[in-house]
Amino acid sequence: MEALGQTSIPLGDTPAEPMVNTGDMSKDEFVARQNRVLESIHPGALLVFSAPVALRNNDVEHEYRQDSDFYYLTGFDEPESVLLLRSAGQPRSVLFVRLRDPERETWDGPRAGVEGAVRDFGAEQAFSIAELDVKLPELLRDEPRLFYALGRDGARDARVLRAIQQLRQQTRKAVVFPTSIAETDGVLHEMRLLKSASELSLMRRAVEITDAGHRELMRVTRPGMYEYELEALLRRTFRAGGSERPAYSPIVGSGPNATILHHRRNDRRIQDGDLVLVDAGCEYGYYASDVTRTYPASGRFSPAQASVYELVLKSQYAAIEKTRPGATLEQIHEAALEVITAGLIELGLIEGPLEAALKEQRYKPYFMHRTSHWLGMDVHDVGRYYKDGGPRLLEPGMVLTVEPGVYVSESAAVDPKFRGIGVRIEDDVLVTAEGSVVMSDAIPKTLEEVEAACAR
Ligand code: GLY
Ligand code: MN
Ligand code: MN
Repeated sequence: MEALGQTSIPLGDTPAEPMVNTGDMSKDEFVARQNRVLESIHPGALLVFSAPVALRNNDVEHEYRQDSDFYYLTGFDEPESVLLLRSAGQPRSVLFVRLRDPERETWDGPRAGVEGAVRDFGAEQAFSIAELDVKLPELLRDEPRLFYALGRDGARDARVLRAIQQLRQQTRKAVVFPTSIAETDGVLHEMRLLKSASELSLMRRAVEITDAGHRELMRVTRPGMYEYELEALLRRTFRAGGSERPAYSPIVGSGPNATILHHRRNDRRIQDGDLVLVDAGCEYGYYASDVTRTYPASGRFSPAQASVYELVLKSQYAAIEKTRPGATLEQIHEAALEVITAGLIELGLIEGPLEAALKEQRYKPYFMHRTSHWLGMDVHDVGRYYKDGGPRLLEPGMVLTVEPGVYVSESAAVDPKFRGIGVRIEDDVLVTAEGSVVMSDAIPKTLEEVEAACAR
């Protein structure tokens, strides 16, 4: 394919940066997060494990990605690590890590070891991970409760409960020990929901690289190419821009595949006249982007495609307009729904009147997903969607997606010119004090911008 020699980020430009990009995020920020956690869990301790290593087959592992909560508190990306934050006494922050091992490091690369864990990752004290079971009962002493994500991993749960059981057996010595285990999300995930300046700068970089990927695809797509060729270009552009990995499996859906929400095979040959729906975002320094653009393979929208495209775009603008402090994701969704439902009636895809169509959810066969989700370290990021008995109010520093779509299946009993058309437009939106900022605004989006980006 001619495309491969023409991508806008040449391989040679790959920046020589460390595996994990931290941007402006310093060790101090990780320590400050630990201190905030310590304040809010007092009296008590918090225990977070690193992500487990997942075997793919035999001795070959899946690509490793650190657990987001663990990384958020430590900036430490090695497996087989555990963080314990203790509010009862010194040390307040303890990391269990793999010891230095010259032979293993020859195979797998450098380790921080216990010295590095203290020097570079904000731990007041560090131990070998092999000492976890021995040290844990000692370190949980005097902590009346433990914040720990119980139930995710049975083997880990058993180790934690064993430590507590050991302390329980010492009750004659009047020890205090955790008599309750509390969820970590109320502490950690609420913090993660509000992004700091340095987190936002990593997210902006993720969006910039994602922008390059989407533009590249609009530029090179031709009928006759396979969806996976476009996926390959996305992955190449992301990696060449310094991204560690995509934030989720890229979706490249051409023609009727654009109407399959989680299309992942990306193996269809693109036909003349197809729309191509690309839902792809890279991860940068552990922060995700999540962007969808839909464009014509031939470079020009057909009139039917254009009418659906303009409808989705109008609904997205209406939803973004609603995105500001004090609003809810529910209101954003309703704004998108109302425009889409009115438009579907106008296009003759559903029956009116508007009020009845909304009430009876007649839009549902064509718009069947929610409009927004939180975005951050995880593509479907953490943080509660409901609070105080209702949908929670948006606050400055939250980042969400706005991603309405219209999908007309090939078998829909509608005017054939609409069959097999799928359009989604997805942007990453930051809530600010004044309203909101569309972080991915530079990526071609109006019909004219998209056709210009596809220009032959
Ligand atoms: N890419 C996943 C989503 O849009 O939610
Ligand atoms: Mn999304
Ligand atoms: Mn998406």
